[in-house]
Amino acid sequence: MFETENILGIVVADKYGIIKSVSPGNGNLPSSLIGMKWYDAFPIPDKEINIVEKRSPEVFRLCESGKKLSVFPSYDKEGSFFGFHILVEKNCEGERYSQFLNKVLCLGKIVPGIAHEINNPLSYVSGWLQMFLDKAQDTDPQKKTYETLICEFERIANLANSLLDFTRQTARPKKIFDINDVIEDVITMVGYTMKNENVEIIKNLASSEIEVYGESDKLKQVFINVIQNARDAMPDGGTICINTNIFQDDLYMVQFSDTGCGIIKDQLNEIFCSSYTSKADGNGSGLGLPVCKTIIEEFGGAIDLESKIGEGTVVSIKLPNCSAKQNEHY
Ligand SMILES: Nc1ncnc2c1ncn2[C@@H]1O[C@H](COP(=O)(O)OP(=O)(O)OP(=O)(O)O)[C@@H](O)[C@H]1O
Ligand SMILES: [Mg+2]
Repeated sequence: MFETENILGIVVADKYGIIKSVSPGNGNLPSSLIGMKWYDAFPIPDKEINIVEKRSPEVFRLCESGKKLSVFPSYDKEGSFFGFHILVEKNCEGERYSQFLNKVLCLGKIVPGIAHEINNPLSYVSGWLQMFLDKAQDTDPQKKTYETLICEFERIANLANSLLDFTRQTARPKKIFDINDVIEDVITMVGYTMKNENVEIIKNLASSEIEVYGESDKLKQVFINVIQNARDAMPDGGTICINTNIFQDDLYMVQFSDTGCGIIKDQLNEIFCSSYTSKADGNGSGLGLPVCKTIIEEFGGAIDLESKIGEGTVVSIKLPNCSAKQNEHY
């Protein structure tokens, strides 16, 4: 659907791509564009995309100029190509995305401060409790309470530290780490929200260490997005199963299965390469999975999705074990 207030104009170009006419919309495209090639007038990221051979319209979102181009190839009755009709609109998605990005960046700056504010009084109170515990006799009925309180404060401190780590702006050095540890960390971060929303997390983790090489925070980001997607697919609650195991000699497999609404087949192919989102009112950017794919590929792995409508979705992530990945680089 076109929103007329966003239309900037319609451009007609001949079969060589040369602009022959410009009909101004609300944005008054200048007539000086006439005579230019349309892809020079509106530089698109990849000129190789062959709209004419594909015989189907193509949409380009130009982030820098904030425009959206819908390019329609035109054919005469005999099917010979004779030019292009190009609808030029404001790229509102770009605007919405940059607002969203802005919010995330602000959050990234605020969260470390909040985490510090939580940690400071926490360590003060924990210190006192530890002192009470040390002084308490074994027969003291309060001893168990002190121990429980200390445990709970530790849990909050871990949560605050995880937030601090996750929002750190600087790149972390690559290192060897155990995927199971990252999963435990992520469950600590999201566990409370999931419980509140009737989502049960069942983990079935490999008993041995499963070590990969890279930036652990990035993998954390992938797992959080996948878990949040699963939760969003189960508004009335459900189950997320997390499995880790050895897939082949040099590959590990991490799987997240949910009991959510599932994804229709057409969208499955789109989901990793477009900014498709089903979340209304700015609740999703649609970039979660494309970013996950980039991160997993940086690790030398692969991410796949299988889904059945009404039954649920399985996200499978294959990652090379640390020796396989390091051999590739060194
Ligand atoms: N487990 C899942 N079950 C059902 N649908 C899913 C699942 N995972 C992803 N999807 C669909 O894929 C879309 C794209 O997911 P993606 O993570 O890329 O973006 P998003 O979740 O919409 O936005 P963001 O990640 O910014 O919050 C989702 O909007 C949803 O429609
Ligand atoms: Mg998402």
